[in-house]
Amino acid sequence: MYKRTHFLAITLLGLALSACVGTSNQDKTPMTLTKEQLGERLYFDTNLSMNKTQSCATCHAPTHGFSDPRDNGVNGAYSLGDDGKSLGDRNAPTAAYAMFSPSFSFDSKGKYIGGQFHDGREDSLAGQAGGPPTNPIEMGMPSRSAIVDRLQENPIYVASFKKIYGNTLFSDVEQSYAAMADSIASFERTELFAPFDSKYDRYLKGEYTMTEQEELGRTLFFSQQFTNCNLCHQLNKSQRHAQETFTNYEYHNIGVPTNIEGRLKNGVSLDSADLGLLNNPLVDDPKQAGKFKVPTLRNVAVTGPYMHNGVFQDLRTVVLFYDKYNSRSKQRQINPETGKPWGAAEVPINLSLKELETGPALKTQRIDALVAFMKTLTDQRYEHLLNK
Ligand code: HEC
Ligand code: HEC
Repeated sequence: MYKRTHFLAITLLGLALSACVGTSNQDKTPMTLTKEQLGERLYFDTNLSMNKTQSCATCHAPTHGFSDPRDNGVNGAYSLGDDGKSLGDRNAPTAAYAMFSPSFSFDSKGKYIGGQFHDGREDSLAGQAGGPPTNPIEMGMPSRSAIVDRLQENPIYVASFKKIYGNTLFSDVEQSYAAMADSIASFERTELFAPFDSKYDRYLKGEYTMTEQEELGRTLFFSQQFTNCNLCHQLNKSQRHAQETFTNYEYHNIGVPTNIEGRLKNGVSLDSADLGLLNNPLVDDPKQAGKFKVPTLRNVAVTGPYMHNGVFQDLRTVVLFYDKYNSRSKQRQINPETGKPWGAAEVPINLSLKELETGPALKTQRIDALVAFMKTLTDQRYEHLLNK
């Protein structure tokens, strides 16, 4: 708890200090913020939600890998909205390293790639940032103009927006709203969201020596002879790329089971399936049903639960889940979290079996090594969260 407050205090103090620079006694104009500083304030501002209880940081907390640390009565699978009762049906992904997702498009091989959200339905961070404030189950504001009114309650915002986007900005609701999203996005592109200072990064720079177990995990992860992970969770050709995000931003259906327990609590019918990429308004091809954007593995050890629906609590369970495609052992057909066979795929078609079934079965030692390797992808500031 101490660490948590401490971190936020540093961020906010930084803001306050930088905001004061440039204000002098002679200068009576209100202090103004840079675009990134303004975006930072907005990111933390609960005044942008209907009941003033939520900001972006509620569900993407900088203290917890920019994901939602709350239990919400569903083991953290879904986020609770500003109304204090609405639960979503998807797990809040980390907003860290999200800046590296390319625009949503078809790549040269005719595959969908990139975008924001599990289904890529927003092209960019700015597009994305405009969504939550008016989403009834998130920040719940009734309209864009209501939000623009809230922005104008704050004289520092008004002065800063005018300085950055022009004096007449507030005469146009759409432009004002876009400016808000643009400044939040520019904050999300700052180094705070992508420090690249995990043990893995330090290892690449020769500043950290991997343990034997971590090193085994690294070798397995990057070798297609021993696992299939890097078919989807590696962006750059070079294994030693300094800014690897551990996702190729493609879309795949890996057969994730329905989160039955979660669905019983959020009220979404167990018969309905989250179709993933097919929910993206730009996609109209039934072959895309059930595919989700490959997530980054940066900070994955501190951003559970896992998958688009938060169905798995433990990182180790995720690795065991992949092994079910390759292991003949009976024991490996059991989900250790339920003690029962793995649930059926939520969408049982369009599975990426070609990729999933190419790995050999993993012995326990290798499962544990992969988990240890993924823990090395934790940014330094979250390392204290690892051994809980
Ligand atoms: C009530 C919780 C909640 C709030 C508040 C919230 N988000 Fe999210 N966020 C989510 C969920 C859930 C998703 C995934 C939704 C989906 O895929 O349909 C998401 C997705 C994202 C993503 C996409 C990441 C990726 O890898 O695709 C980004 C970036 C993001 N949010 C930033 C923000 C910003 C900026 C704000 C404030 C303007 C915000 N969020 C407010 C819950 C929330
Ligand atoms: C065919 C592509 C593919 C392969 C191969 C693959 N993954 Fe994934 N991985 C995905 C996709 C897609 C998701 C998200 C699925 C969802 O949310 O429904 C995912 C999710 C994950 C998650 C959960 C991340 C989170 O934040 O929820 C982890 C951890 C993970 N994979 C690790 C691995 C490891 C370790 C391997 C190798 C043993 C591997 N993956 C192999 C595509 C792949």
